[in-house]
Amino acid sequence: MAGSLQLKELKAGKEMLFSPSLLSADVLNMERHIESLEGEADWLHVDIMDGHFVPNLSYGPALVKALRARYPQTFLDVHIMVEPAEDFLDMFLASAPSLLTVHLEAAGHIHRTLQKIKDAGVFAGVSINPGTAAAPLIPVLHMADLVLVMSVNPGYGGQSFIAETLEKVGELRELRAERGLNYLIEIDGGVNANNIAAIHAAGCDVAVAGNAVFGKPEPSKAVREMRIALQRRQADGVKGKSSGEYAGRR
Ligand code: DX5
Ligand code: ZN
Repeated sequence: MAGSLQLKELKAGKEMLFSPSLLSADVLNMERHIESLEGEADWLHVDIMDGHFVPNLSYGPALVKALRARYPQTFLDVHIMVEPAEDFLDMFLASAPSLLTVHLEAAGHIHRTLQKIKDAGVFAGVSINPGTAAAPLIPVLHMADLVLVMSVNPGYGGQSFIAETLEKVGELRELRAERGLNYLIEIDGGVNANNIAAIHAAGCDVAVAGNAVFGKPEPSKAVREMRIALQRRQADGVKGKSSGEYAGRR
C-alpha cells in the first residue's frame, strides 16, 4: 500500500525491477509458475484486458483479489487496459493491488482517476500506448507514482519490441529531473535479454516481461538471465551506445 512511502524507495539499491507478466503464465498452473519466481522477481504484473480498449480479454478483479489473499506481501502491479477506466476503479481498488495503472487514452478524466487511486492508498500509474506522445502526460506527472510506456500495442503477449518508444523514456526521465518528480518509469512489451540493457540505458526503472519469462522452461532462470545480460552489457559499455542498438527483436 502506498501510504507515505514513495514508490521509488522500493527500487533503492536495485538497477532494475523485474515484473513478470502473468498473461504468459500457464493459467492451470499459475500458482506453480508464481512460486517458481520466488527470490527472482520483484513484482508480479497482472494484465487486465476488456476486449474493447484492447482486442483481447484476460483476467478480472477476482484474480487480483485471489493473488492478494494468497500472497499478502507480494507487490501486485496491476495494469488495466479497460475503457472507460473510471468505471472499473472501484472493483479493482477493492481487490487490493499495490499499484494500479490506467491508460491515459482510456480515461476521460485522468486527473480525477489518479487522485481516486491515490486516495485509496494505492500507488497510481499512468500508461501511454506506442502511438501516444509523452507530452499529454505533463499535467498529471506530479500525481503519478509510475509512468508505464507501452513498447508494444497492448492486447497480446509475445509481440516485438518497438524500439522508438525508448525516446519517450528519455523524455520522461528528463521531465522527472527538470521538475524534481519521483515517478518510476516502467516499460511493457517485447522485453527480453537482448534488449534489456538498452531499456535500462534509456532510463527505465521497471521492466515487465511475459513471454521472455513464462515462455521459458524455467521462468526464474529467465529472470536471472535478464539480470546477467544487463550486467554484462553494462560492463561492455552499452550506456554510451544508441538506444536502438541492442533493441533486439524476437
Ligand atoms: C500487453 C501487456 C503486456 C504483456 C507483455 O498488452 O500489457 O504486459 O503481457 O508480454 P510480452 O513480454 O510477452 O510482450
Ligand atoms: Zn501489461
